[in-house]
Amino acid sequence: MKSDRLPDKLPRHIAFIMDGNGRWAKRRLLPRKAGHREGVKTLRKIVDECFRAGIPFVTLYAFSTENKERPADEVETLFSLMKEYFTEFLGEMLEKGIRITVMGDLSYFPADLRSIIGDAVQKSKDCTDSTLNIALNYGARSEIVRAVNAAVEQGKPVDETSFSRLLYTADLPDPDLVVRTSGEARLSNFMLWQCAYSELFFVKTLWPDFGKKELYEVLNGYAARDRRFGKVKQ
Ligand code: IPE
Ligand code: IPE
Ligand code: MG
Repeated sequence: MKSDRLPDKLPRHIAFIMDGNGRWAKRRLLPRKAGHREGVKTLRKIVDECFRAGIPFVTLYAFSTENKERPADEVETLFSLMKEYFTEFLGEMLEKGIRITVMGDLSYFPADLRSIIGDAVQKSKDCTDSTLNIALNYGARSEIVRAVNAAVEQGKPVDETSFSRLLYTADLPDPDLVVRTSGEARLSNFMLWQCAYSELFFVKTLWPDFGKKELYEVLNGYAARDRRFGKVKQ
């Protein structure tokens, strides 16, 4: 398969389960935090490549509800990387017309980080070129339970469309393509409602090693997939 060029058929929404930072560091006898730092470099490059390719929606799974159970110093490292990321690159993202959205329970985060994230979301809200959606303290089960409670509060039955509007992703299309790095073939509580018909790609590469070549391979693989949505092609 030719993978050095972009296929004609691209996803409208691509989501990444960025996994393997810890193993990347371990293989180099480095602390896990070195892997996370390298992972941020990767995400900057990959997000840029996706938008340059003309994919308008990119979602990143950055921190799951379960990741809170990791050792406190690792969670601290992830918080400070988030702070750095949102502070350093906000200007650049605004220049590029990128709207930043976040999904997850931010109340868990320290106040200063919450305000940095809130600032990025607020300042970029009118950007229309592309959308970068970041999952922070996100879990699909908790998202669904939250939406069910909102529906109960509204006091009337929901259908698939009105229920979707109660999820964090109310104004985003469902992901066409989900990519998980590091060889693990599972969703780990990621967008369980929205991924009903997503194409899933599990690649062996660890997230810090995932580059343009690997991205193009996945995009070419996606273009070759036959999406039937349960129907029969004539
Ligand atoms: C993904 O890398 C980053 C987060 C979950 C925050 P991991 O930290 O899970 O890396 P591995 O899976 O231990 O290699
Ligand atoms: C999923 O990776 C969460 C993120 C990438 C943010 P994990 O490393 O936390 O998932 P498991 O533990 O392998 O299922
Ligand atoms: Mg992992």
